[in-house]
Amino acid sequence: TIDSAQIGRIISSHTDLEGPLLPILHALQDAFGFVPSQAHAPIAEALNITRAELHGVISFYHDFQTAPQGRHVLKICRAEACQSVGGKALAEKTLAKLGLDWHGTTPNGAVTIEPVYCLGLCACAPAVMIGDKVIGRVDDTRMDSIISEAGA
Ligand code: FES
Repeated sequence: TIDSAQIGRIISSHTDLEGPLLPILHALQDAFGFVPSQAHAPIAEALNITRAELHGVISFYHDFQTAPQGRHVLKICRAEACQSVGGKALAEKTLAKLGLDWHGTTPNGAVTIEPVYCLGLCACAPAVMIGDKVIGRVDDTRMDSIISEAGA
């Protein structure tokens, strides 16, 4: 559950900073694992910005999550080198297999799927990342074992 008093404390402890918005969003994400929508109105009010401006910032920075994440975050590379050697098909199949869209989380909370734009493993494309582990040359079989090991 999201504690609105805690949201208020996080916001007010940053409002004296110059450029408080990003520190507030990071602090909320650290506290809750994502930026809760309940925080939008109080942030907009405290910083005197519109909700639209706030949404713009949250969606611009791919690091901010807007929903609780699964226990494992599986990032599939969608940049050029991976796309050109089957990364696109791999991603589509994986999403279909799990019945998810990008940013979705399996109903058991095991896995969240996120797109990523280059993992620096282009020579071993297609590449994915699970937790903090980067894996290259992922084919369907490898993907199946990755997602089953993650408990999806
Ligand atoms: Fe996928 Fe670089 S393009 S790792």
